[in-house]
Amino acid sequence: MHSIDYEPASVRRFLAEVAVADGHSPLSEHKRAAMADGTGRVVVSSDADGIWLVGTAARHATDGHWAVEAAVAERARLPELEREAIGRAVAIVPDHARHTLWAFRSRQIEAAGVLGYRPVRAVVRLSAALADVAHSSDGSVDIRPMAKTDVPAIVSINNRAFAGHPEQGAMTEEGFRDLERFDWFDASGVVVARTDRDVAGFCITKREADAVGEIYVVAVDPASIGRGIGRELTTAALRLLGERGATVAHVWTDESNRAAIGFYRSIGFRVDFRTQELALPSGDGSTGWSRGSQPSRRSAMLQQETASCRSRNTCPDR
Ligand SMILES: CC(C)(COP(=O)(O)OP(=O)(O)OC[C@H]1O[C@@H](n2cnc3c(N)ncnc32)[C@H](O)[C@@H]1OP(=O)(O)O)[C@@H](O)C(=O)NCCC(=O)NCCS
Repeated sequence: MHSIDYEPASVRRFLAEVAVADGHSPLSEHKRAAMADGTGRVVVSSDADGIWLVGTAARHATDGHWAVEAAVAERARLPELEREAIGRAVAIVPDHARHTLWAFRSRQIEAAGVLGYRPVRAVVRLSAALADVAHSSDGSVDIRPMAKTDVPAIVSINNRAFAGHPEQGAMTEEGFRDLERFDWFDASGVVVARTDRDVAGFCITKREADAVGEIYVVAVDPASIGRGIGRELTTAALRLLGERGATVAHVWTDESNRAAIGFYRSIGFRVDFRTQELALPSGDGSTGWSRGSQPSRRSAMLQQETASCRSRNTCPDR
């Protein structure tokens, strides 16, 4: 098998085919964004039948480690090729940089295990059909779209709700406003809860695609948790997504965040996807794969990762 030049259309086609085969995108949004804007690294390998591997690596904005993923054609899912795919993908990480590997297919996880990787955490996606979510409200919580003047309160609640989680709990007002540069961000898709005129919680929604929406992050002031505010916020946010055409909603969270999972389950979400982050126990970049034989197609590093529920310790990193 040999490598070809990076070519977006053929790569996009390949990724779409693999997604159909797996029922899930083989690369996370983080990696797809890094590929699209040229800030990640990409390796594309082909054989006589076309592309069989797209490996990607993107640097994590908070601690600088590299996150790696490998999309492998169905026909190449043999143990040896699975290992080769991981080796090729890891080889695009700059020399000896610390990296982790994300994988959800059992064969890929097995291959990673043979190469010495061990699971460090898992992230789950929960989904709900909006038609199945009860939207009843007793009206005790005032929920409305955010106003620009709510930003300081949102940031303060976020940082207190996620205190102890260095990534999630370190939002700044500037960081919040930075969300506006993402296509998906729409300030009218952010709802806040008020009690006695004070902001007591917020929920950021995201339109993923067509009929799919996402609860991007929801947080309630720690002084007000357990009073139904989170539920009111989330169901109001789901209603908003429904009004904008979504029929299904997703939310991603770290599997260890049992509180969030319990919360989302109580609203009607169910876990339907699980992916793992794996690392070499030594934490170095070595897999035994010959780096010199691997091509690197993109060299700039990812400067800024989407600050989302999916990039936090409490929530997923995909
Ligand atoms: C998760 C969070 C938003 C819940 O808000 P809340 O206002 O405390 O939740 P509510 O009072 O509306 O509870 C709604 C339901 O969730 C359930 N729930 C809430 N916290 C729970 C927990 N720790 N474990 C299990 N279930 C929980 C409640 O039992 C309730 O169900 P019920 O009405 O059937 O009794 C809030 O605790 C929070 O901000 N946590 C920190 C940030 C976070 O982890 N956000 C989610 C990930 S992005």
